[in-house]
Amino acid sequence: MPYLDHAATTPMRPEAIAAVTTAMAELGNPSSLHGSGRRARRRVEESREQLADALGARPSEVIFTSGGTESDNLAVKGLFWARRAADANRRRIVASPIEHHAVLDTLDWLADHEGAEITWLAVDPTGQVTPDALRSALAEAGDVALVTVMWANNEVGTVQPIRELAAIAHEHAVPFHTDAVQAVGALPVDFAASGVDALTMTGHKLGGPVGAGALLLRRDAVLVPLLHGGGQERDVRSGTLDAPGVVGLAVAAEAAVAAQPDELIRLAALRDRLVDGVRRAVPDVIVNGHPSEHLPGIAHLSFPGCEGDSLLMLLDARGIECSTGSACSAGVAQPSHVLIAMGADPSCARSSLRFSLGHTSTVDDVEAVLDEIRPVVERARRAGQVA
Ligand SMILES: Cc1ncc(COP(=O)(O)O)c(C=O)c1O
Repeated sequence: MPYLDHAATTPMRPEAIAAVTTAMAELGNPSSLHGSGRRARRRVEESREQLADALGARPSEVIFTSGGTESDNLAVKGLFWARRAADANRRRIVASPIEHHAVLDTLDWLADHEGAEITWLAVDPTGQVTPDALRSALAEAGDVALVTVMWANNEVGTVQPIRELAAIAHEHAVPFHTDAVQAVGALPVDFAASGVDALTMTGHKLGGPVGAGALLLRRDAVLVPLLHGGGQERDVRSGTLDAPGVVGLAVAAEAAVAAQPDELIRLAALRDRLVDGVRRAVPDVIVNGHPSEHLPGIAHLSFPGCEGDSLLMLLDARGIECSTGSACSAGVAQPSHVLIAMGADPSCARSSLRFSLGHTSTVDDVEAVLDEIRPVVERARRAGQVA
């Protein structure tokens, strides 16, 4: 079955499955003081070192969480609350409009319930935030609590100049958070070298288990916790540590990061083959995102005159799994907020498919799409005309 939806979730790596399975059979709460507890603690701490090593962080900078959504909430709410507590005037969050809903909806909630003011950074038609846009947003506002800009976009794959953006935030002494869920394992990600204060990552996008992730957080970053309780994870994130999840996350991250340089070349070639082939089959296809600064495995394509949902279902009926890349609320297809922010017109934004490749992708997966795409697009266009 050709699976081209790795940006949604990717198969677990065999070594991660083995590590999780072994750890699940082992007893012990990592906070307990007896032998079983100490053994569980050792496994967690070894995993913390392994994950930190893979991502250029120090072990003490790793806060284990339940995944990307929790890490995004923790970073954005936690930094906002801490900075506002230090100075009540700091109520502004500077953000890109193409963030994942885990950040966007957190920002909406803070605006509705906590009096946050949001400054949206314009993105260019390729989906990039320019350093100048951030510079002028920070020059205009003296009340900024934090900046949050994702490392790489989950729909169109555009990669942001994160290091430069973080440096600009620091010129204004403002902390910088990045959602690197799609970047870790796909691109070189080095926490220390990036200069960011907080970085979100999750296991299930790189071959680890769902429900295990981390927030990398500089030691000098102060944030108010979301969860109160046993004070685990530097008092920033309470809750009994999920030792099997943590072990699986670290094993998968290490494997993904080790394979990343070769995978980047392999996936970029597969993506080129896909995009070139679709262009030949459907000459008016629009390729969205940045022409060079994009994730190696994501191809986001608009097919004028088609509904993205129809294309998705027609491909699914032929055994090919992909995504429209945009959110669907209560069963109603919404034009992608990412494409709208990039200046696409709403009909184009509704006519898109995201093909995302990952560690198990093959030439056969790509060829399966190329065999079917022309008849599927023709059929979706006929259906669109009838409707
Ligand atoms: C960019 C981005 N951020 C956050 C998330 C949420 O991560 P999780 O599924 O681990 O909660 C995702 C997953 O779709 C994502 O792509």
